Amino acid sequence: MGAKVELRELTRDNWEQCIALEPTDEQRTWVDPNVWSIAESRFYPSMLPLAIYAGDEMVGFVMYAQTPDPRDGNFWVHRLMIDRRHQRHGYGRAAMGEVLRRLRADPACRTIWIGYLPDNDAARQFYASLGFEEQGEAPWGGDWVARLVVGD
Ligand SMILES: CC(C)(COP(=O)(O)OP(=O)(O)OC[C@H]1O[C@@H](n2cnc3c(N)ncnc32)[C@H](O)[C@@H]1OP(=O)(O)O)[C@@H](O)C(=O)NCCC(=O)NCCS
Repeated sequence: MGAKVELRELTRDNWEQCIALEPTDEQRTWVDPNVWSIAESRFYPSMLPLAIYAGDEMVGFVMYAQTPDPRDGNFWVHRLMIDRRHQRHGYGRAAMGEVLRRLRADPACRTIWIGYLPDNDAARQFYASLGFEEQGEAPWGGDWVARLVVGD
C-alpha cells in the first residue's frame, strides 16, 4: 500500500513551519523557496498553496491552480517539494495523486501541466510515471513542460 498524505491549508499556525522545509542542496536550483511560492500565490489567486502532511508531521509543500491560469488558460501544478528528511517515502507520489484526483474532479480541467528544469531527472521520471508527456521547452524558456490529458 502506498504512503498516505493529507493536504492542509496554510494558516498563521503552520506557515513558518512550511517556509522552513527544504530540498537537498542539489535540488535547490530546481524549486523556488516555499516563501517565494506563498508570496506568489498572494498575487495569483488561482494558485492554491498547501502543506503536505503525513499524519501530524508536515513533510512538504504543493501549489496548484484551482482555475485555469489567466495567462495561458491552462491548469498548472506550479510547485511540489518534499522536505529533504522525508524524501523517498512515497509522499511526493501520494501528494500528486491527491492533486490529480482533485483536478480530475473538475469538468473544466482537461489537461494538467507541470514544468521542471531539464536537468531534473528525478522530476522527469516521476511525472512520466504518472502519465505526463513531455512537450519540450516552455514558451518562457528555461523550464521544460509536460502535460497530462485527463478529459476528452
Ligand atoms: C520530486 C520530489 C517531489 C519527489 O518526492 P518524494 O516524496 O521523494 O518522491 P516519492 O518517494 O513519492 O517517489 C516518487 C518518484 O519520484 C522519483 N524520484 C524521487 N526521488 C528521486 C531521486 N532522488 N532520483 C531519481 N528518482 C527519484 C522516482 O521516480 C520515484 O518513484 P519510485 O519510488 O517508484 O522509483 C522530491 O524529490 C523533491 O522535493 N525534489 C525537489 C523539488 C523538485 O524537484 N520538485 C519537482 C520539480 S517542480
